[in-house]
Amino acid sequence: MTQDELKMQVGIAALKYIQNGEIVGVGTGSTVNKFIDALAAAIAAGNIHIAGTVSSSVASTEKLKGYGIPVLEASEVARLGVYIDGADEIDGEGYMVKGGGAALTREKIVASLAERFVCIADESKLVKILGAFPLPVEVIPMAAGQIQRRFAAKGGVATIRIKDGAPLMTDNGQHILDVTGLSIKEPLAFELGVNQWAGVITVGVFAQQKASVCLLGTSAGVRTLTF
Ligand code: 5RP
Repeated sequence: MTQDELKMQVGIAALKYIQNGEIVGVGTGSTVNKFIDALAAAIAAGNIHIAGTVSSSVASTEKLKGYGIPVLEASEVARLGVYIDGADEIDGEGYMVKGGGAALTREKIVASLAERFVCIADESKLVKILGAFPLPVEVIPMAAGQIQRRFAAKGGVATIRIKDGAPLMTDNGQHILDVTGLSIKEPLAFELGVNQWAGVITVGVFAQQKASVCLLGTSAGVRTLTF
């Protein structure tokens, strides 16, 4: 099975976590794109009825609206039953690294509205210890240098993410540092610590907003991990 087929498999499997009539939190990335395709097909077939969605990125918003699926502002919604999103890494306790698509801040905001975080990922994302994937951190540009030095003191190398020859601008108009060389053995303490650094908007460790469930695409079918 190709990685694309594994992503499609979990995108479809996530549909059963949606209650009819609710507002659904929607993440960002190639796996979520498969989920949006599956959601649109299920709505068109009359199998699912939702009140709308809250999206974690401009890209997901555009894709949802392209299917005619309503997108509400996160600030207008008090709670979500479920948030469905991918991950760059997930460990055996449901802690994740996210932000490979640069949407980590909005992802964390929408995830924090939800009672359940359903992570959809192919099996390559399951790790023992977080940190092999370069950790995305959204930062205010004027603080980038001092944050790079603080990561260096932890043994990490933080590089400004570049797109089309210039620092990538997030949907929030900020920059992303990608940090290599870390081994994140205590995700909760790490997240809380780095979040306190001046100029850090969001660190891509999702420990406070960890997954409740992970639907892992494998060649033998969807494996469900519950945390
Ligand atoms: C975007 C994310 C994505 O969920 C993460 O990068 C996984 O993406 P994909 O499903 O394309 O592998 O955090 O900011």
